[in-house]
Amino acid sequence: MQKTILLQYFSNPASQQAEKISSLLHSFNIAAGGMLLLVIFLVTYICIKFRHRKGDDVEPKQTTGSGKLEALMIGVPALLLIYFFYETVITVKAISPTVNASMKPDVIITGHQWWWEVEYPSTKMVTANEVHLPVGKQLLLELRTKDVIHDWWVPELGNKMDMIPNRTNFLWVNINKPGDYIGACSEFCGAQHAWMRIKVVAQSTADYNNWLMANTKKAAEPMDKEAIAGKELFQNKSCAGCHRIEGTSAIAVVGPDLTHLAGRQYLLTGLLANNESNLNDWINHPQQIKPGAHMPDFMLEKDSLRAIAHYLSQLK
Ligand code: CUA
Repeated sequence: MQKTILLQYFSNPASQQAEKISSLLHSFNIAAGGMLLLVIFLVTYICIKFRHRKGDDVEPKQTTGSGKLEALMIGVPALLLIYFFYETVITVKAISPTVNASMKPDVIITGHQWWWEVEYPSTKMVTANEVHLPVGKQLLLELRTKDVIHDWWVPELGNKMDMIPNRTNFLWVNINKPGDYIGACSEFCGAQHAWMRIKVVAQSTADYNNWLMANTKKAAEPMDKEAIAGKELFQNKSCAGCHRIEGTSAIAVVGPDLTHLAGRQYLLTGLLANNESNLNDWINHPQQIKPGAHMPDFMLEKDSLRAIAHYLSQLK
């Protein structure tokens, strides 16, 4: 998860949109690289050819003004500018077709300080932080925010898009190949901005449908005594004041939905691997692990903490 997201446009464009951006960037680089080589060549050539030699006592012949050279110096950059302006407009139009009021989004993603809420309108299923998407389909993502400005960016899948308060933005994505794609919030949004990572899991249509079906189900019932106690504590010790677990009396939507928490790979938008011991640490010391997060430290006893973490780790 900590892997750099720089240069992903070049190394692995994985959607039709990212491919178009990548090819535009390639042509920019070719033009800029050619220009750089030309300048290096000319400077080197002139340094060698016109360097001071023994016996050169007279000032060389001075040339002032050249209509041809000036036309070339203005003309070539102007043509490049027009060409790249045109290519950029074409690319932007191709990757972001107009969205009509009649179009329904496939996924609604809402930025929060500091996590992502993910809703699948076709099933009303809500999850957090890991966004599952099917490959080979033109998908419309609706982007919103609950608080400040966030910015959605998964470079391998396309362009950035801001999430702006009281506004709805849209992003198209048509993913080419299954895989995990890493992104990050790209607009400074407070203390934990750096840890507002994104994970997109792109799946074949069949795998995606299975995942959607499984995650639309109610939460798993606790399987042992400790987990049963954990479920009780979850309801009674303020956890249920912020979180929802479908099929239980926890129905709040302030923090991330935890119905199928154990099915996710990471906790806290990528900060920790998702396992029982990390869950326990997180509930124990939220402000040490993620300073500024809206999760308070409830000062619970060790046994209670363990039971809650144990219960949550069974929510597959
Ligand atoms: Cu959200 Cu930066």
